[in-house]
Amino acid sequence: MEIVVKGFTKHFGDTAVIENMNLTVKDGEMLALLGPSGCGKSTTLFAICGIHKMDAGQVLFGDRDVTHVPAQQRNVGMVFQSYALYPHMTVFQNIAFPLTVRRESKVDIKRKVMEIADLVYIGELLERRPAQLSGGQQQRVSLARALIRRPGVLMLDEPLANLDARLRLEMRSELRRIQQETGIAAILVTHDQVEAMSICDRIAIMDQGKILQIATPAEMYQRPVNSFVAGFLGDPPISFLDGVVRQGILVLQGDADDTIPLPEHISGQPDGKVLRLGVRPEHYQPHFPTKVKGAVVFVEMQGREILFDVKLSNGDLLRSVQAASSQFKLGDTVEWGVDPAQILVFDDHGTRL
Ligand SMILES: Nc1ncnc2c1ncn2[C@@H]1O[C@H](COP(=O)(O)OP(=O)(O)O)[C@@H](O)[C@H]1O
Ligand SMILES: [Mg+2]
Repeated sequence: MEIVVKGFTKHFGDTAVIENMNLTVKDGEMLALLGPSGCGKSTTLFAICGIHKMDAGQVLFGDRDVTHVPAQQRNVGMVFQSYALYPHMTVFQNIAFPLTVRRESKVDIKRKVMEIADLVYIGELLERRPAQLSGGQQQRVSLARALIRRPGVLMLDEPLANLDARLRLEMRSELRRIQQETGIAAILVTHDQVEAMSICDRIAIMDQGKILQIATPAEMYQRPVNSFVAGFLGDPPISFLDGVVRQGILVLQGDADDTIPLPEHISGQPDGKVLRLGVRPEHYQPHFPTKVKGAVVFVEMQGREILFDVKLSNGDLLRSVQAASSQFKLGDTVEWGVDPAQILVFDDHGTRL
């Protein structure tokens, strides 16, 4: 079922947390609401669920306007960072709880719990109590409980944040599998860009209560609307170089000897214009044509790849990710190149040109 948010505004006291937000999640889609801590992601999710009242705006689930419908009647499945399982109940009882409250028959409850337990792979854990489960298993139970009422939409608020790294990876793909098998429209709130990029159809990136861009992960990575988005996506992160245009080339700040030709699609910039270049680590490589000289000041072996930080003569840094076979060492003077076609260019407001 499609989720539409129109003109959503929310204040806490005098502080405007969300101003006039518009967002559509297509039927069957998993959308990430991605942004730094405190930007308003949970506030948005709670308003869609009906836990928070909106100061202005509308929420629609399919054709149904649920703006004034109480949370319990919106038929939303919710999963939080804390699993919020009832410790004295078994897994079976936890999952069955929403149906028990509705006084469904024992036979129906049993059938539905078995079905959903199979979907999230916890069929053999039904008699255990939450304390006897791992974090990942508890999160599966909490997901099963959210799904058992066949909700129209699924809201996930940092559901993997409490898991250790290995489990987080496993549960990440599990979340995606379960969402795809149920075909349910879902919003995944996260501050983890890798999580958002790896399992969501589209990302809505937020900063300070505003959505800056909504796009597929690839689009957002390759064509970020501004330098905030460019800096938020990518690990290791993009490097920025500031400079001024002189006769079609960019002279880097602090050193008239460091210059980079501007990519073709942004030629014709006037002399004196202040620009910021964004170069991703995969686009600063020994074989690329536009050479930028510097010294290797940091090397980190990561197994399959090595990360290098290269300090330019003006003090700016460029990062490079290379295959583990790369022979460069700390202290080397290098003259690697950037790929001109891949350079991102931003104006002095941070907007990408
Ligand atoms: N109940 C509340 N009362 C007052 N301020 C709140 C409340 N809930 C959230 N806020 C504020 O709203 C902003 C957004 O919070 P939140 O939506 O929780 O951010 P996120 O989930 O992106 O980390 C924060 O500045 C937070 O302090
Ligand atoms: Mg939050």
